[in-house]
Order: sequence, then C-alpha cells, then structure tokens
Amino acid sequence: MRINQLSLRNFRNYRQLNIQLNPYLNIIVGNNAQGKTNILESIYLLATTKSFRASKEEEMIYHTEANSLIVGKIQREAEHTLEIIFNKSSGKKIKYNSKETTPAKFIGAFNVVLFTPEDLYLIKGPPSGRRRFLDIEISQVDKVYRDLLGDYQKTLVQRNNLLKNISLNRQDSSLLEIWDEQLIELGSKVIIKRAEMIRKLGLLSRLMHRKLSNGLEELVLKYQPFFIQQGFNITEYSYQEVTKQFRQTLLAVRPMELKRGYSLVGPQRDDFLFLINQLDAKLFGSQGQQRTAVLACRLAELEYMKSETGKYPVILLDDVMSELDQSRKKFLLELLQSRVQTIITTTNLSDFNDDILQAASIFTIESGKIIE
Ligand SMILES: Nc1ncnc2c1ncn2[C@@H]1O[C@H](COP(=O)(O)OP(=O)(O)O)[C@@H](O)[C@H]1O
Ligand SMILES: [Mg+2]
Repeated sequence: MRINQLSLRNFRNYRQLNIQLNPYLNIIVGNNAQGKTNILESIYLLATTKSFRASKEEEMIYHTEANSLIVGKIQREAEHTLEIIFNKSSGKKIKYNSKETTPAKFIGAFNVVLFTPEDLYLIKGPPSGRRRFLDIEISQVDKVYRDLLGDYQKTLVQRNNLLKNISLNRQDSSLLEIWDEQLIELGSKVIIKRAEMIRKLGLLSRLMHRKLSNGLEELVLKYQPFFIQQGFNITEYSYQEVTKQFRQTLLAVRPMELKRGYSLVGPQRDDFLFLINQLDAKLFGSQGQQRTAVLACRLAELEYMKSETGKYPVILLDDVMSELDQSRKKFLLELLQSRVQTIITTTNLSDFNDDILQAASIFTIESGKIIE
C-alpha cells in the first residue's frame, strides 16, 4: 500500500502543496516550525480521519481561511482518491473517490503506522491514550470493530441519558434493563476484539522487543478490561465469560450509577499494561526501557497490519532519529531499507547515510512551501 500523491489546500501553514511521493523512501527536511509534522498529520488524517495532535479540528484550517482540503491518491491494487474537507462552521466531510462517505466506510482504505517522539506517552500517559491506540489500530484493519464501537458509543450515550433522568426523578428505572443488556452485549464484543488484538500484537511485540533488547528482557502486553479494576477476574475471553463479568460488575455498581446519573463501567474504562520482565513499565521501567518497549510495539503494529490486511501500512516517522541510541537507530535504518513506503521528517540530513539519501525523494520545507 502506498500514497502516490498528496495535495493540501489551506491546511495548517500550507496555502497550497502538491507532491508526488516516492514509493519507498521520502525525507522531509527543514528547520523547526516550518511544516514538516503538518505533512505527516495530513497523511495520518487520510488513514484515520483524526489528527494525532489537534485538540480541535478547526485549528488545522489555515488561520485566515474557512476551509481546508486534503487529497491523497492511494494505491492499493487500483488507485483511489481520499479526501477530507474541513469547514469552520459545518465541520468535516470525507470523500472516497469524490463521493461523500462515512468514517466507517472511509477508514481502512489506507493504513499508516506513526512513530513520534511522544510515543512514550503510550506507556507513561493515562489509560485514555492506550484506549485510543487500541481503537485506532483495530479500526484501521477491522470494519466490524468500527461499526461495533459506533453502536456501543451510541448505546452508552442513551444509557447515560436515562441514568441522568432517573437520578433527577424524571424517569423511573423500568427501561434500564433493556439498555443494560445492549450495553453488555455490544461492550463484551468490543472487549473480545480488543483482547484478541492485544494477544496478537503482544506476541509480535515480544519478538521485536527480544531483538531490540538482545534477548535480555521480555515484553508482555496485558489487557486490563474494566472489570479487573473492579476486582473481578477472567480466564478466557469467550462471549459467555466476558458477558458474565460485565453483568456482575454492572450489578455491583448499580446503586452508585443511579446516584451519580451516568455509566461507571464498560470498555470506556479499559486499559492495557506493558510488562517488562513481569513488571509494569509505567511504574518500574526506566525511560530507556519504556522507549524500547514502545518502539517494539510500533514495529509490531506494522506486522499486525500486514497480517490482518495482507499489505504493509505506510510508515510515518516524525523526527525520531535524533534521540535514538545506536541499536535502535540501526533498527530504524533497517526499516527504512525494507521497501515499505516510508515518510520521515528530520531537521538534519546528516542523520542519514549516503545510500539512504540516494534512494530517497527529499523535500525541503520552509514556511509551508517546498523549496527547490
Ligand atoms: N492553522 C494554522 N494556520 C497557519 N499556520 C499554522 C496553523 N497551525 C499551525 N501552523 C504553523 O505550522 C508551523 C508548525 O508546523 P509543524 O509541522 O509542526 O513544524 P515542524 O516543521 O517543526 O514539524 C508553525 O509555524 C505554526 O505556526
Ligand atoms: Mg515537527
């Protein structure tokens, strides 16, 4: 899979950009704050419809304009066109081959894996970041999951409305049972998909990590569905087992939910752990161990997507060369030579050897423009 062409209009600091991408190696070079990461952000949006850093979509529109446009020509077997339009007042539109479509249909047409210096927060940061990671990665390769997640979220909103009304004595609790059953059914399916993904990604991460740590350390990814935090346990992620745990937890928190007026449990409270030699890397890992674990996890994502879709995703590397030690640098350079399409940003071409520079298309960026 690859992106052949990228066009931007009034996106971040780009008034207009049009580039043909190299099928293998692309280096975007420039000083700080010139617009390198903005290009990766736009490509990431084409895969996921979401930014990895904007808190509001509006902030991605060129600051004096009302609209912003991203267009990518994506090669899978045939070439197809993906398009995102942001409008200050009407929000976001997405198009597949010029026809407006929904995220559930759009996502999955193009897959990426992103490496950034902020990846460390996948381990160090709050559970919400890890849940986002799970949802984005599974959604990229699994349409059933995208639909499931959407349905679960709708159910959660409805159930929250009902709980709120009950807590304010506007409605009695006779309808609650129906919403409980739906929450349990959809939520359990979400949990089972996530557990399956963590199992596969965990195996791949362990292999990658073994190489990165010269076999000295063992990385295990461990899924922590919400009911574990509530003191319930699980032996296998079968539908029967998961629904049972879900139901028990829901019963246990019922009085509290009725009082507070919103849902307290469900996969919106899940988490997963990075264990290095059986210890939680978030609490006990050194910065170096955390970096290695997260890199192993990203590399594993490449293989995971390949195994789920049959194609390698496009690799986006944001400014990751500068802070790597020798062994990790070597690994990344091997990755760059692996003939998977890669788009990498850097402030300094001296990070790369001549072979790599020879093979790459190099784009020099200054204030939102390509300079020759
Ligand atoms: N909506 C926007 N409109 C215009 N310029 C923007 C907008 N959002 C960000 N920028 C500009 O983009 C630049 C940062 O781009 P970025 O890609 O993060 O730089 P870097 O090259 O360091 O990766 C800054 O100069 C910032 O002012
Ligand atoms: Mg940057």
